[in-house]
Order: sequence, then C-alpha cells, then structure tokens
Amino acid sequence: MRVGVLTGGGDCPGLNAVIRAVVRKGVQEYGLEFVGFRDGWRGPLEGDTVPLDVQAVRGILPLGGTILGSSRTNPLKSAAAGGRSGIERIKDNLAGLGVDALIAIGGEDTLGVATRLGEQGVPVVGVPKTIDNDLGATDYTFGFDTAVNIAMEAIDRLHTTAESHHRALIVEVMGRHAGWIALHAGLAGGANVILIPERPFDIEQVCAYVQHRFQTRFAPIVVVAEGAHPVSEELATSNEQLDSFGHVRLGGVGQLLAGEIEKRTGKEARCTVLGHIQRGGTPTAFDRVLATRFGVHAVQAVHDEDFGVMVALRSTDIVRVPLAEATSQLKLVPPQRYAEAEVFFG
Ligand code: F6P
Repeated sequence: MRVGVLTGGGDCPGLNAVIRAVVRKGVQEYGLEFVGFRDGWRGPLEGDTVPLDVQAVRGILPLGGTILGSSRTNPLKSAAAGGRSGIERIKDNLAGLGVDALIAIGGEDTLGVATRLGEQGVPVVGVPKTIDNDLGATDYTFGFDTAVNIAMEAIDRLHTTAESHHRALIVEVMGRHAGWIALHAGLAGGANVILIPERPFDIEQVCAYVQHRFQTRFAPIVVVAEGAHPVSEELATSNEQLDSFGHVRLGGVGQLLAGEIEKRTGKEARCTVLGHIQRGGTPTAFDRVLATRFGVHAVQAVHDEDFGVMVALRSTDIVRVPLAEATSQLKLVPPQRYAEAEVFFG
C-alpha cells in the first residue's frame, strides 16, 4: 500500500513528530510505502510530492515546523483547471501517483477538506493539529502545550520589566475563536486580567482591574487572545483581509487595549504581540508524546483500512472518531473554566 502524508493549515510544533511516527511504524511494522505531499492540499492538488522514507524522518522528532511544508490552500475553492474541480484534480493525482490512502494532519480547515474527500470515496485518516486546542472531538491537540509554555515564559519575563517601570503590559496571544492559550498561559503566568473571544470584555472593568493591581504596588499584566473583542462595538478593531478559508487575519486588539488603558487610567501601557513565536521551535515533551501517539494510531487505522476517521485523545487513550465529527464542533472555553481564572483578576 502507498500512503500519502500532508500537513495543512497553520503549522505547529509536533508535526514532524507525527510524520516520523507514521513512517517509522508504517514501514517497520506494516511494510507500507510513503509519499509526502508538499504544502498542505496544494501538494495533492498539483501532484507536488517529496520522497518520504525512514531515512527522511531521522532526526526530526524535536524539530519545529514541518518537513513537508504547509499552506492554507483550499481545494474546495480552487479554480477548476481543465474543467475539473479541486477534488477531482486531487483524486486524479492520487490515482496517477498510485497513492492508495492519505493521512491528513491539520486543523478545522484541513480536516474539513479531508471529510469532503472521504465522502467522495478517498481513503483518508485525519490527525488533529492546532495550537488553539479548539477541536471539539479531542481533549488536546499537540502544539497547544508548547504555545502555552512559550506564552507563559513571555509573561514571566514581562512581570519584572512591568514592575520596574510601573507600566501595564498587554500580551496578545493567538486564539481565533477560542481562548485556551490565553486562559492557560494567563493562569500559569499569573496574569491580572485574561480576555478571551468567548467572553466580550468591558473596557471599564479591565481598567478597574488594572488600577487595582497598581494599588497593590505591583504592575498589571493583561493577557488577551487575538480573537477577543470588546462589548462596545465602538472600540472594535477590524481587518478585512481574508484567507482562502474565509478567515479574517487577526491582530490589533492588544494595541487597542493599551491605548484605551492609557487614556482611561493615565498609566503607561505597552503591548507585546507574541504572534508566530508561539508556533515556532521545538515541541515540549507533552506535545512530542501526543504527536507520536497520534502518528502511531493514525497509521494503524490505515493498516486496518478504517478510513474516514480521525485519531483523538480522550482522557489518556487515543481513539478513532468519524472525520465529520472532528470538525462539527469547536471546543470553546466554558464559563466555569473562565470563572476559575477570574479569582486572580485585579
Ligand atoms: O489556527 C492556528 C492559528 O495559529 C491561529 O491561532 C491564528 O489566528 C492563525 O493560525 C494565524 O494564521 P497565519 O499563520 O496564517 O497568520
């Protein structure tokens, strides 16, 4: 059996660990052959491949990024070429390359395409990935723990400089729809306010927390997820740039907060945007182990010819769930989890 592997969407630490595990177990235990597709769905769409054997995956366990490259190419939106839709082109290319099955490693968007392909008869197995940890079907995605640790370390560092200068420091972290990174990094780093997309914030309340923190003779750290927004629409930031999956390119809420905090409290406020630093570099031990287990179980599903499924973490077990289920529900921060963090605000 010849198996194609691709990594799509925003990259995250641990992708290479999955690829390594898939190939090592697939070759050694099942005698499978692999081919890598370059840059997410662009690879199968254009028939762009890279050799993928045991030698190719040696030494990549601790490497960030992905040796296969990634992109946000959406074959469902790609212009038809030669009268063929994106899905038809992928099917033709897979047949032409003798690829019998696909392992798609990605988040909501990549797995959404995998679901459509599966419905059209392409044997596909999904592996969940996103630093946002917002896929409903799995307890954790790999990449999240690394992102949280990077953000926590940044917060630790910002505490000391904020206190030296008696400033409010705002840290903008990733998190488009869900505030998991902000919540975990904020809790671990002792933030004084945590703002997440699930709970629109009241700027007056944020300023009250900031003032209170200054009264304790410590400087406030505000952690804000990039997708967080104020209750009042007058303060909203907007950016009209969309990617091929229709997502707005986020960023700017941290700067908006810094400006408003300065204006309303009279205290100096500065913003640090962590951005893609959260997605780069070596994965934590947790993410390496989770990614490796996902890879091992994904290739096992291929061997069992159990297609149209995604591997998922439930408690400490890796299970298989229908691909359609994987993308049907976003996992948002529940109000009671946010309430746990609110104890430490101000
Ligand atoms: O979905 C993962 C993610 O890191 C989001 O948190 C963020 O909004 C987005 O990707 C950024 O995407 P890009 O790398 O395309 O700017």
